[in-house]
Amino acid sequence: METKKILDVSNRYIMNTYSRFPVVLRKGRGMKVWGTDGKEYLDFVGGVAVNILGHCHPKVVVALQKQAQRLLHVSNYYHIEPQIKLAKLLVEKSFADRVFFCNSGAEANEAAIKLARKYSKEQGRPNRFEIITAKNSFHGRTLATLTATGQEKFQKGFEPLVPGFRHVPFNDIRELSNAITGDTCAVLLEPVQAEGGVILPDEHYLKAARDLCNERDLLLILDEVQTGMGRTGRLFAHEHYGITPDIMTLAKGLGGGVPVGAMLATERIASAFQPGNHATTFGGNPLVCAAAVATMETLLEDGFILDQCNRMSMYLIKNLQKLKGEFPSLITEIRGKGLLIGMELTKDGDPIVRACLEQGVLINCTAGNVLRFIPPLIVQQKEINRLIRVLGEVITKFLKESL
Ligand SMILES: Cc1ncc(COP(=O)(O)O)c(C=O)c1O
Repeated sequence: METKKILDVSNRYIMNTYSRFPVVLRKGRGMKVWGTDGKEYLDFVGGVAVNILGHCHPKVVVALQKQAQRLLHVSNYYHIEPQIKLAKLLVEKSFADRVFFCNSGAEANEAAIKLARKYSKEQGRPNRFEIITAKNSFHGRTLATLTATGQEKFQKGFEPLVPGFRHVPFNDIRELSNAITGDTCAVLLEPVQAEGGVILPDEHYLKAARDLCNERDLLLILDEVQTGMGRTGRLFAHEHYGITPDIMTLAKGLGGGVPVGAMLATERIASAFQPGNHATTFGGNPLVCAAAVATMETLLEDGFILDQCNRMSMYLIKNLQKLKGEFPSLITEIRGKGLLIGMELTKDGDPIVRACLEQGVLINCTAGNVLRFIPPLIVQQKEINRLIRVLGEVITKFLKESL
């Protein structure tokens, strides 16, 4: 079917929840994807921070093929070998003692919220259920995670929201401290606010939040759905800041392209969950866990990919800074960690994203005016060079036309 016809069918049958580009992607390898019309794209979106090893990494594909021939799905009533292997890997490489598996970032955060509330009840403090989160944060689209999200634009139209959430400005430890009441049980933060426009924490903010949680006997939950699995150049972003959380959530990069989420906690907290307290049919099923094990093992092999991520981060930031020097009226700031990088503009970023797509380069815009670069961690210099060249041409044309 030609692309136009496929688009017509898509627009006829799929619910209208995404403003999609008129492109149908059919095939991918490494940093590249191809459309049904044969056009090739260089992918700096990577499924929004999902495809950490690039598209169709051979080790992930082989793991999926082998697992598909052995066992696709069984219920969590039974033990599942790939799930056990993945849990062991995650625990060995993190602060955590135990893992709960689910299917997405929002579900991982739902599980974290439930665990924090349950832990409080088990401690004999049934009234402590409130969770403080940051303004401008993003934690998902289920009702509780939508309420946790500190951005009204996502909440509008879905009221009444879930009780028990309070929002404070990010990077303001005094406001966080002042917001704590006798009802507070936890603080939930993204180490780097990703959807909110790639906002980095001030140097001491996360450590101060950790100390505050210790002093006031609160749980610190870190949402590493986007920042986890090497995205910021360390396996987990909190490692940059010398702290550990009590609970951490993961998804996106965890499966290297398959839908899997996880909620990790220390033994003390995790023990608040007993059989029957939380569950999901597909969570941690054999197929996704086989892919996630292959992804994580590949990511950790000799630290090679994390080194590559850090080198390419510096290279990309340096070249984006050069563009900022060339176009000071449009580009106000370059910021980021690892390969989660934002370029703040004085104008709406959407026309630039569209023009880059025309030129065969996929990039993303978040928070209206922040171009976000979240490529696979295997990106190379030559691919960054192409991105920079295309961005330079697109911006030159854009500025000329908007004169
Ligand atoms: C920090 C963070 N938390 C949670 C989510 C929600 O994840 P999902 O879309 O898999 O539900 C996202 C998605 O962008 C995210 O960036």
